[in-house]
Amino acid sequence: MGFVTIAVLSVLMGVTWSQSVTIGPEVASADRSTHPNAILQMQKQAVIFEQQAIVVEKEAVEDVMATGKLNPSHYPAQRAAKVVQHYLNTRYGSPYRLFGLHQVHSGHAEDVADSGRKYQLEISVQEFIRNITEKCSAEVLFQRGEKLNSPEVQVSCEELLKINTKAQEDTLYQQYKMSQSLSAQHLPDSHGNIEPDMEPFWHLGIVAASFVMLNESTENTLYNVAQVANVTQLETENEQLKFDYTILLHDIVSQEILHWKLLFTWSPSEGVKVLQMEQLPRCHCEKPPGTP
Ligand SMILES: *[C@@H]1O[C@H](CO)[C@@H](O)[C@H](O)[C@H]1NC(C)=O
Ligand SMILES: *[C@@H]1O[C@H](CO)[C@@H](O)[C@H](O)[C@H]1NC(C)=O
Ligand SMILES: *[C@@H]1O[C@H](CO)[C@@H](O)[C@H](O)[C@H]1NC(C)=O
Repeated sequence: MGFVTIAVLSVLMGVTWSQSVTIGPEVASADRSTHPNAILQMQKQAVIFEQQAIVVEKEAVEDVMATGKLNPSHYPAQRAAKVVQHYLNTRYGSPYRLFGLHQVHSGHAEDVADSGRKYQLEISVQEFIRNITEKCSAEVLFQRGEKLNSPEVQVSCEELLKINTKAQEDTLYQQYKMSQSLSAQHLPDSHGNIEPDMEPFWHLGIVAASFVMLNESTENTLYNVAQVANVTQLETENEQLKFDYTILLHDIVSQEILHWKLLFTWSPSEGVKVLQMEQLPRCHCEKPPGTP
């Protein structure tokens, strides 16, 4: 009985939260012309995924270190699969190429002597902007030890990596290399809207946040990007566009919103290079503006 109550409450909370920060039905219909399906779809998926995740959380509590064949819809397999998404974004993501976990088909976990635990997964990965989905095999190793290492990932997705976005990236790069003037807040805003010009910078924020989410991931975590709080373009250095982002992450396990500040560069040839990442103090955001 306890389980059912908690799960239902959590789902309700999840839904309320999602609607308040992502999207309401009236926005979805009014804005369809300027709002690419990809973003709507991504947000809807995030919402659906969170609902599923919250339901399975309570079931999985007793079973955190599940070994052997895993239930693909339960937390252990989902968490490991989500790490693959973050990994793909850190390696291959761009303002025009963004990967998401679409589905987990099967999972298997085993202890690896001394070094940690290894997950073998069959998953479907989606590239949101072109809306292409591919089945991929992946292996995720969560290392054991005093030092917290980020998980090691191996994944093979042939087709998705062939998506060529160079022309769009070059255009964006030239535009912002000239102007160096980007400054924006709240991507998406509280109604789920993003100006079309700002969409590439929402995607870029998700790619940069994937470096944080990959690095912070363990077998017990699950993160999503909630919002880019703000982004400021800094002076171009060594032909790399340079950005200062504050990104809000949704920690689905604790239901907290975490604030991360990221300093990174991007260019079509070098991709995203994170120079600095720092979690802002939790109390930071609650203080009235202007207080020390
Ligand atoms: C993405 O592709 C799938 C399958 O091909 C299709 O069902 C879905 O409607 C597409 N989504 C968008 C937003 O175009
Ligand atoms: C990843 O996290 C560890 C601590 O968990 C930290 O020491 C390391 O600097 C982080 N990596 C980056 C690139 O910030
Ligand atoms: C960006 O947002 C963070 C957190 O909301 C805030 O602390 C910071 O001052 C903002 N920066 C700019 C440049 O607006």
